Amino acid sequence: MKLATKYNFMLITILVICLLIISVLSYIILHKHAKDEVIKHASILMEAGLAMRKYTIQEIKPLLALQNKRNFLPQSVPSYAATQNFNALRENHPEYRYKEATLNPTNPRDRAADWEADIISEFRNNRELKKMTVVRDTPMGKTLYLARPIRIKNQGCLTCHGVIEDAPETMLKLYGPANGFGWRMDEVVGSQIVSVPLSLPVNRANETFLLLISIISGSFLLLFIVLNVVVRKIFIKRIVTTNRLVEEVNQGKTDCSGFDCKGNDEIANLSESIEHLCKQHSKIYQKYEDSVNFDDVITDRSGNKGRT
Ligand code: HEC
Repeated sequence: MKLATKYNFMLITILVICLLIISVLSYIILHKHAKDEVIKHASILMEAGLAMRKYTIQEIKPLLALQNKRNFLPQSVPSYAATQNFNALRENHPEYRYKEATLNPTNPRDRAADWEADIISEFRNNRELKKMTVVRDTPMGKTLYLARPIRIKNQGCLTCHGVIEDAPETMLKLYGPANGFGWRMDEVVGSQIVSVPLSLPVNRANETFLLLISIISGSFLLLFIVLNVVVRKIFIKRIVTTNRLVEEVNQGKTDCSGFDCKGNDEIANLSESIEHLCKQHSKIYQKYEDSVNFDDVITDRSGNKGRT
């Protein structure tokens, strides 16, 4: 394999390996970044849900306590307030969703779907699990779900969700006795689940990735061309010329011109040394020629010259 081919092969291999490493790393980093960003959004939305719940408990519920005795108002229920608040948000951002998914809900709209029930089971089986993220394919593209367990920690909850007999009459009138009862203390009854679209940031990450790889590939191509020109001019061309001249000298050429001894680098030194050797070789060859001319040439009678 020629020196230039070897050099190109080596350079291309190094650049391709670098490009591959950069591609894999940047893909992982960009996608992790996109997912982290979505988790951050989801966490903020979850906090908003919790804040809405807190506000309802602290400020709305006491205001409607008397009213609830006559007519039950769901607006005094934290879960209802948080869900309604998010439904209003969804009018402009339908891709975001908040649900208090429950296995045995008071309001049927809160009933957990199959995959939500799986999340609730996870929380039921693992008490240490405080939150969970799940990515699912939906008709709206990839979606990230952030979930937190709903555990009954307060005896007060069981007034309305424990035994039917304890529940306020007005509430029973509105919701009926079929669902939302029989919950127990410390039981995980459901999960708050926030869903945030993942496809948008992932698409953005893919676009950034493609742009980055195009820029790096372009830079590598430029680097390849520049290195090729420079290395060819500084090293390869001079080595090839020296090599060709040495071969010519080897084949009997006595003219020692053409060696590139310019510069102060190793190749120039090598050319100089070879030029020197060539000159010596020429001198010896010349002497040998001369000696052959005088001693070994015989002249025959007819005047023809020839070597013995
Ligand atoms: C005054 C009665 C009352 C009390 C007390 C009460 N809830 Fe509820 N809860 C309801 C009603 C009514 C709903 C249904 C609201 C709706 O229509 O969305 C509900 C809904 C929920 C939901 C959504 C699932 C479902 O059943 O539809 C969860 C979760 C929940 N409550 C948890 C709790 C917890 C935890 C506590 C205690 C901190 C609590 N509730 C206290 C009346 C009550």
